[in-house]
Amino acid sequence: MTLTTDTAELAGLADLPLRDELVGAKPYGAPQLDVAVALNVNENPYAPPSKVRSSFEAAIADVAKHLNRYPDRDAVALRGALADYLGFGLDYERIWAANGSNEAMTHILQAFGGPGRTALTFGPTYSMYPEYARNTHTNFVEVPRTATFDIDVEAAVAAIAEHKASVVFIANPNNPTGTRVPLSTIEAICARSEAIVVVDEAYQEFTHYPDDSALSLLGEYPRLVVARTMSKAFAFAGARVGYLASSKGVVDACRVVRLPYHLSDPTQALALAALKHADLLLAQVSQLAATCQSTQRWLRDLGLDVPPSQANFALFGPFDDAHAVWEALLERGVLVREVGPLGYLRVSAGTPDEMAVFRFALQDVLHPESTPTPLAESTSTSGEIPADDAPSDTVVEDESGASWAGALWTKIKRRDW
Ligand SMILES: Cc1ncc(COP(=O)(O)O)c(C=O)c1O
Repeated sequence: MTLTTDTAELAGLADLPLRDELVGAKPYGAPQLDVAVALNVNENPYAPPSKVRSSFEAAIADVAKHLNRYPDRDAVALRGALADYLGFGLDYERIWAANGSNEAMTHILQAFGGPGRTALTFGPTYSMYPEYARNTHTNFVEVPRTATFDIDVEAAVAAIAEHKASVVFIANPNNPTGTRVPLSTIEAICARSEAIVVVDEAYQEFTHYPDDSALSLLGEYPRLVVARTMSKAFAFAGARVGYLASSKGVVDACRVVRLPYHLSDPTQALALAALKHADLLLAQVSQLAATCQSTQRWLRDLGLDVPPSQANFALFGPFDDAHAVWEALLERGVLVREVGPLGYLRVSAGTPDEMAVFRFALQDVLHPESTPTPLAESTSTSGEIPADDAPSDTVVEDESGASWAGALWTKIKRRDW
């Protein structure tokens, strides 16, 4: 297991004239650990298929010829392709793209937040929002959600007025709960406030009704911003592409605050190639959504509390000592996320094999006396992930009929992974 972020490196900061609000701050991010089964950052677990990889290679070969030149500063072709992907009659002038939706949403605070202004959200929610605020010298307020992680419209409107919030962030589906609020809630907040309302739909493609999106409200509310990303459903996290859809005015404000040439030519070219193959890259989304639903049912059957998630992850708990459960899973080669309400953990939807190992591992941690031993029956010893481009809907079996998950679990039990 290798820890790639060494926080010890931060020790030297004590000698530097750091901004007061950064003293003691740690870099954001889940641990990046070399584990057998990584289910901690809500990625799509399926690598791009070979046809898409060939397009990526051709795109990179093409941009390599002119890397001496700066890229298109306004990323017009990419923004046009993103508008076509979203539909809803959008064109490139109403789309903004950046290195992940984290950067795109930071542009919103650079433009509409700042000293003396306030950003507001409804927690528990995505833990980067306060960091965007801190980095842009914007005050930050978190208003609690209801017990079922809904947003009470009256309380929301009152809080936005009380704090004179300039920008409101609503993750929908919410991270880390996976729960959704209805569009009527978002519409009411837009209608009854002057704030820029950012609806962060990072996980929208996984929801039961992906077209039931705040994009449908854009025509009515010029201060509404819908944030999307290619990091999750699109299986493109490594390329770093996120984007916003809003009014032309909001996009123009983002163009003012962005650094020049912020999106590299390789990034733009790869994203254009990815969008041409949207069908292939999104091919496993419904399977992952179904995996998320079956995982929730299974966790509930274990007696755990699981908010109804429509994303590609599920929050589960409560545990007296969630960190101990997290560590015990890690010892068994399974990395989940410690995030959200006290006592809870979050697991992402992985491949069927990964989920099988997750189930074995969690049962082994919680109920060691009743852990199934299907893997002891396994005759495969390789534990290698089959080098197969086409993901299957079921646990992969090798020629002997042994499952990959089974073989891996056997290795994990022997602490040999
Ligand atoms: C709710 C939410 N919004 C935004 C992001 C940021 O995604 P990216 O910067 O990769 O586009 C994430 C990533 O985990 C997320 O969970």
